[in-house]
Amino acid sequence: MSRFAIGATDFELDGRPHRILAGALHYFRVHPDLWADRIRKARLMGLNTIETYVAWNAHEPRRGEWDATEALDLGRFLDLVAAEGMHAIVRPGPYICAEWDNGGLPAWLFRDAEVGVRRSEPRYLDAVTRYLERVYEIVAPRQIDDGGPVVLVQIENEYGAYGADKDYLAELVRVTREAGITVPLTTIDQPVPQMLADGSLPGLHLTGSFGSRAAERMAALREFQPTGPLMCMEFWCGWFDDWGSHHHVTDASESAAELDAILAAGGSVNIYMFHGGTNFGLTNGANDKGRYAPITTSYDYDAPLDEAGHPTGKYFAFREVIARYAPVPEEVPSPPAPAPGFEATLVPGPALLAVADRLGEGSDHDALPSLDDLGQDRGIAIFTTELPGRPACDGPATLVVGEEVRDRAWVLVDGKPVGVLARDAHERALHLPAARGELAIVVEDQGRVNYGPRIGEHKGLIGGVALDGEDLRGWRARPLDLDRVPRLATEWADAATDVAAGPVAGPRFWTAAFDLDAAADLFLDTGDWGKGLVWANGFLLGRYWRRGPQRTLIVPEPVTRPGRNELVVLEFEALAEASARFVAAPLLGHAEI
Ligand code: GLA
Repeated sequence: MSRFAIGATDFELDGRPHRILAGALHYFRVHPDLWADRIRKARLMGLNTIETYVAWNAHEPRRGEWDATEALDLGRFLDLVAAEGMHAIVRPGPYICAEWDNGGLPAWLFRDAEVGVRRSEPRYLDAVTRYLERVYEIVAPRQIDDGGPVVLVQIENEYGAYGADKDYLAELVRVTREAGITVPLTTIDQPVPQMLADGSLPGLHLTGSFGSRAAERMAALREFQPTGPLMCMEFWCGWFDDWGSHHHVTDASESAAELDAILAAGGSVNIYMFHGGTNFGLTNGANDKGRYAPITTSYDYDAPLDEAGHPTGKYFAFREVIARYAPVPEEVPSPPAPAPGFEATLVPGPALLAVADRLGEGSDHDALPSLDDLGQDRGIAIFTTELPGRPACDGPATLVVGEEVRDRAWVLVDGKPVGVLARDAHERALHLPAARGELAIVVEDQGRVNYGPRIGEHKGLIGGVALDGEDLRGWRARPLDLDRVPRLATEWADAATDVAAGPVAGPRFWTAAFDLDAAADLFLDTGDWGKGLVWANGFLLGRYWRRGPQRTLIVPEPVTRPGRNELVVLEFEALAEASARFVAAPLLGHAEI
């Protein structure tokens, strides 16, 4: 049993000064079979602590349905940290930002227009309390004073950049303490006096977040909080990517110099990210500060341990810096072997519209509903209606979305694609060849905003859809359950019927099969494809998009198997080459430096 405390100048472990050398590793962004490997590699870099957020919307996908098993088994993750002889920091939010869908807040919270998120509003606090109690059931018995690894728990996340409701923070603290959390509690803010003031509460230890000008930022934090250990809880040693921008990298030696500055100032650190991992499935967040910018599937973050779990130049540069301040194990992780390179033919499957009724139940609505009205938190929905026609004239018509497209809409008339409306280009009007025919609009939620005031906004065709100024009514809405895709794909592969019949244009499924000698990490090059989703052996790898910067999707080894492997692709637009190409190493796109 150990004691961990906040002393006058340092963290204290059993009464002795202790420096936290932590690395961020989100269990929900790494395949669970690989957790132990990533944790071990953190220790080999010289770290003594693993930090993770907890993603509320992953654990409670529907109100009251709690899941902490398999890929969400936080308890097992913390036990693996302990088994490696390391400490853990847990940051349960409830808001986490983290470039994660909706910043971790469940979309269902926002169905109630009256709910007041991230403040002391009773309905919100009620849901938060139940969430935190469940998290702390896992965390409390794993605290250091009970022989477990957990040394710190964080309250909220950069709250000073959002609000100043001290009653809210106090309530989070009350719930946390009542649930049996006894370790010191921290807050994090960018080291700007106003944010530090708004985001903190007496009794909570303040930490900072920054990636550059470390010495200056540490001094700003010290000025605001004259006693206690100095800690950078998020040392941004890289950055995230959004579709359509470049791949963000930071110079390894410059990052190493910043790390050195933090440690030279006597500070503790959490390297954000030590290993970023992947936004598997549809879990990525987005920013919108004037232009909607969804986060890529890769969360490589230019971190010391890359997305595939391999050490980079930054890993060794950081290890060298750490070795000046603390003992570092002699062993180093082995360098990566190239992944298998090969190609598999993509075979056309059915058009999405042809099998939509197998992927979700339809419902009828007079006014166009949002995805949220349909109870859908993420993914794809299809809206269809009969266009009214115009007796006098058969010419083109203009389709207009009232307020905003969230986030991308493929418009088809009588099954033929006529155009796309993209939120990131502020598009909401489109010419149709004629005012008649069956209109189908396939809408993709590309990820909920994870930072700022647009968190929680509803998805879909917001503000309704009009044709030549007339509101279109009488819709059939079908939210898709994408979990059904792999099963459906087996059925159509087995069926003797020609599922590929019909026009190729428009959203369509494709499949590929390939054989492997042994399970292996694979890098699927999607550079010749348009925009869509890919499943490998039933596991939704995530989104791809020819816009880049990301070109390859990682297929983690535990998802693959010796012998036959299957891919299912849902391509919304067009393939330049109907083949699945696997390459030796990841291609995350062009950088700016
Ligand atoms: C802030 C947040 C993190 C993350 C980083 C950027 O510091 O606290 O969750 O969003 O920004 O990667």
